[in-house]
Amino acid sequence: MNRDGFGSKLGVIAAAAGSAVGLGNIYRFPCELGNNGGGAFLLVYLLIVLCLGVPVMLSELIIGRRTQKNPIGAFRTLRPKSAWPAIGYMGVFGAFIIMAFYCTIAGWTLEYVVKAVGNQFQGKDLATIEKDFGDFHNMGWRNVLWESIFIFITAFVVFKGVANGIEKYSKVLMPLLLVILIVLGVRSMTLPGAKEGLRFLFHPDFSKITGSVLISALGQVFFSLSMGMGVLITYGSYIKKDDNLASTALSVTLSDTLVAVLAGIVIFPAAFSFGVNPKEGMGLVFCTLPMIFNQMAGGYFFCVIFFVLLAVAALTSTISLLEVIVAYFVEELHMSRRWATVIAAAGCAVLGIFASLSLKDGSSFTIAGMSLFNSLDFLSAKILLPIVAFFIVLFVGWILGKSAFFEEITNGGGLKMSIKGIIFFIIRYLAPLAIAVIFVTGFL
Ligand code: TRP
Repeated sequence: MNRDGFGSKLGVIAAAAGSAVGLGNIYRFPCELGNNGGGAFLLVYLLIVLCLGVPVMLSELIIGRRTQKNPIGAFRTLRPKSAWPAIGYMGVFGAFIIMAFYCTIAGWTLEYVVKAVGNQFQGKDLATIEKDFGDFHNMGWRNVLWESIFIFITAFVVFKGVANGIEKYSKVLMPLLLVILIVLGVRSMTLPGAKEGLRFLFHPDFSKITGSVLISALGQVFFSLSMGMGVLITYGSYIKKDDNLASTALSVTLSDTLVAVLAGIVIFPAAFSFGVNPKEGMGLVFCTLPMIFNQMAGGYFFCVIFFVLLAVAALTSTISLLEVIVAYFVEELHMSRRWATVIAAAGCAVLGIFASLSLKDGSSFTIAGMSLFNSLDFLSAKILLPIVAFFIVLFVGWILGKSAFFEEITNGGGLKMSIKGIIFFIIRYLAPLAIAVIFVTGFL
């Protein structure tokens, strides 16, 4: 069995955090927050992270480590001849869908690296930067080109298994991303009129909490933590028997959430200061950020470094997505790693091209009035991830059961864990109930 590509040589936290921290934090989080009531969304988001983040992540890691398999093989091992492997299939399908639209935005980060290096933002006002952005995302072929390049780089890394190198780089680069976000946050908060943005972010207006805000926050938590899809089952399968799963889950959850909140602190004060509509969506990041760089000393260098780091953060996430599909092809369909990678990447690229083109103004690639891009995003974050996560906690709570759970979380009794009973209670009762209730209210 070929499990030596990505992961086996990686520090688990670095790999899992690399998967978690990506465009979901810096691009998708502000978009969702802006469109779903600002501070109310943040509050709900943090509550869900607190109650569900660690338990769901832990459940996935446990299934993976116990079986040492990909998501489908894992369920098949634990419950042969049952319908449970269907959950694994949904996960692999989810990875495919997310890859397709994720790489569109990942491609944009490359365009913006080039723009940044060419100093194309300097001295421009918001209207011009917005017009340039609009022109770019209406240039279908250019989006497709960048997207294809991004998928190609991802496939190259997954195929070559140079993850070892990626790990070394991301251990330096990701903390650097954090530092840059802090610097940008300070600059953003000191812009004139920034206070309004902080208010928008941190003052929850409880009347704004609706079913659709709840489901958006739930979907965003799963998306951002890479949960509900099998990525963490796959990573769990690489974790050593003496690693502490609970503390791994906790550190990944905390660092991912920190990056998301920081991204909010960077984007919203600046957006309010420059007069960008918080419901703007895509423009929130791609137009507001260049404006911040224009307002700071050394803006040129920060801008280049920032977009490079954003592209790297996206890359460590797409690697994890593609790896799920490739691990399934290799281990369950017995393909060679080379063919598995080529076929998986080509499939993602084909769907991805339509997703990219669907963002052009007046594009006809729509489903029920939504662009294909938004439909794929909706289907994965708000439907597939919650459903898969629901069944994963149900599986650990009711099928795998208490003694196996205690065995995994304490490494067979070696670790002391006084709150293991509480965590199990959450996994068995609270988590499935919370996911189900939010899911139902979201679609009523
Ligand atoms: N979590 C990543 C981000 O925030 C995206 C991602 C990678 C993902 N792998 C995933 C989302 C698996 C859901 C499931 O950018």
